[in-house]
Amino acid sequence: MSSTSELPAEPPFTPGRFTGRTAIVTGAGSGIGRATALRLAREGARVVIADIAADRLEQLTAEFPDLDLVPVAGDIATEAGVQAVVAAAGGRVDALANVAGIMDAFLPPAEVDDATWERVFAVNVTAVMRLTRAVLPIMLAAGGGSIVNVSSEASLRASASGVAYTASKHAVNGITKSTAVFYKGDGIRANAVAPGAVATNIEAPFKSEHAAGVLSCRPRFHRWPPLSSWPQPSPGCSATTPATSTGPSCPPTAAGRPSEGPGRSAPRCQGPLPGPPAPARRL
Ligand SMILES: NC(=O)c1ccc[n+]([C@@H]2O[C@H](COP(=O)([O-])OP(=O)(O)OC[C@H]3O[C@@H](n4cnc5c(N)ncnc54)[C@H](O)[C@@H]3O)[C@@H](O)[C@H]2O)c1
Repeated sequence: MSSTSELPAEPPFTPGRFTGRTAIVTGAGSGIGRATALRLAREGARVVIADIAADRLEQLTAEFPDLDLVPVAGDIATEAGVQAVVAAAGGRVDALANVAGIMDAFLPPAEVDDATWERVFAVNVTAVMRLTRAVLPIMLAAGGGSIVNVSSEASLRASASGVAYTASKHAVNGITKSTAVFYKGDGIRANAVAPGAVATNIEAPFKSEHAAGVLSCRPRFHRWPPLSSWPQPSPGCSATTPATSTGPSCPPTAAGRPSEGPGRSAPRCQGPLPGPPAPARRL
């Protein structure tokens, strides 16, 4: 992994590139969503910034009073929250960036509770589908539009998180592919971005001893680079401060780095990975 100073330079801003365009960015109060919203706005877009954290939106608009930012505080996991976001766009949506997302607690299938499963899917999947469903008629009437869904490396493999987050990000890829196929030829572009670890405020508690025992013994958990070398959502965005605390739900033996999000630490290896299964006995 490169050090921060060796990271690729941020693409230059193109003033006026999005003048006259309206974009919706969810999760705009923090991290990747905030960086996305600021880039769009700095390049001329009117940006509906949506987040459940009203204080983060207030801070953003106060910090950048010259940008055309339209804050909408609310829970996008509800239909009312989605409708409020779309209404704030005022009948024009050139781009939708579904960025808001939450982690699970690294819970494997045998341990995941219904509340975790349902909340992770409500925010990471259902909100993406509802927002997509709500903006498509507007985009189609206008002759096109772009939808970008922030997925995750967890959409491509199983060891980046627990079952709820992993399944939810696989679903995000499915929504993206379905949208791209159904509206090809209609001017609609649908793409997903699958980031690896980025230093943001995302919370990733580690609550499963079973997951710790299995996952922390994998070699990649022993090769975490220093936090200073982690990519930031935007090198030019001063407010994207990395979270460095391990959080109250980390086990006291925590050591190393998590596979996604810097807000927690991975537990120590609790033993070797189980060997290959014994051959089946003939009955
Ligand atoms: N940080 C990483 O390492 C990483 C890696 C891969 C993918 N991602 C994905 O990137 C996206 C952005 O994550 P981030 O790291 O910037 O996290 P973040 O926590 O810094 O920002 C997410 C924002 O979404 C908001 N949000 C959460 N639930 C919401 C809801 N129900 N309604 C409205 N807003 C809500 C939060 O308040 C927060 O401001 C997520 O979808 C996440 O899964 C992050």
